[in-house]
Amino acid sequence: MYIDTHCHLSLEDYDDIDLVIKENREHDISKIIISGYSRDTIKEALDLIDKYPDVYATIGYHPSEADITNESDLIVLEEQIQREKVVGIGEIGLDYHYGNENKSKQIELFRKQMEIAEKYNLPVVIHSRDATEDTINILKDYKVIGDMHCFSGSLEVARIYINMGYKLGIGGVVTFKNSNLYKVVESVGLENIILETDSPYLTPEPFRGKTNSSKYIPYIAKRIADILNISVGEVAKITTENACSLFDLK
Ligand code: NI
Repeated sequence: MYIDTHCHLSLEDYDDIDLVIKENREHDISKIIISGYSRDTIKEALDLIDKYPDVYATIGYHPSEADITNESDLIVLEEQIQREKVVGIGEIGLDYHYGNENKSKQIELFRKQMEIAEKYNLPVVIHSRDATEDTINILKDYKVIGDMHCFSGSLEVARIYINMGYKLGIGGVVTFKNSNLYKVVESVGLENIILETDSPYLTPEPFRGKTNSSKYIPYIAKRIADILNISVGEVAKITTENACSLFDLK
């Protein structure tokens, strides 16, 4: 049994969501956590958690939304996170990849959502791209735990996050031939890892280039099992326990 702790499931990317859910079940994916990251995708995620028993959500405003998110969105968010199957806040964070002209807006949005997470004692799902130093400095200010979604940094950075109570979200990148992520996986061990696809993006080998889906989680698990020289069953068991404990899933 596996849990995909971070994916996006939208009609924009998939014609038939019933089919995606059916295929997940056939591939031993017991739960998926959809990340709603904008007004529209948050609404979509909330609809899907009502429709499917194995679907959960984290919701929050992505840094790409920093220019268009306002105070009332955050008031609504505070109501939306009360829903039973909303298990965390995210993805939230910082993204300076395409420039950082709106850095102060991104930081403000990030901090406000960290405050909400702290107030309601919810874990966060962090998106951090080309912004490691600022991300670390902000996370330090809050008594919050969470998931470093799509972690791809150095071992040194991994250890800083782990010491603050964060798990590393490991996905398709670990299967890429040019990736050094295996070194981090090898060193931090299974107890600090949760599995994710970030579908429809970052499809693992041998399907790289196709649309990603939660059903490919076993390929990520297999690669991690090979790196750690353990069975894939062990990877499934421990990463599922980690996910259940972080997101308080039954
Ligand atoms: Ni994502």
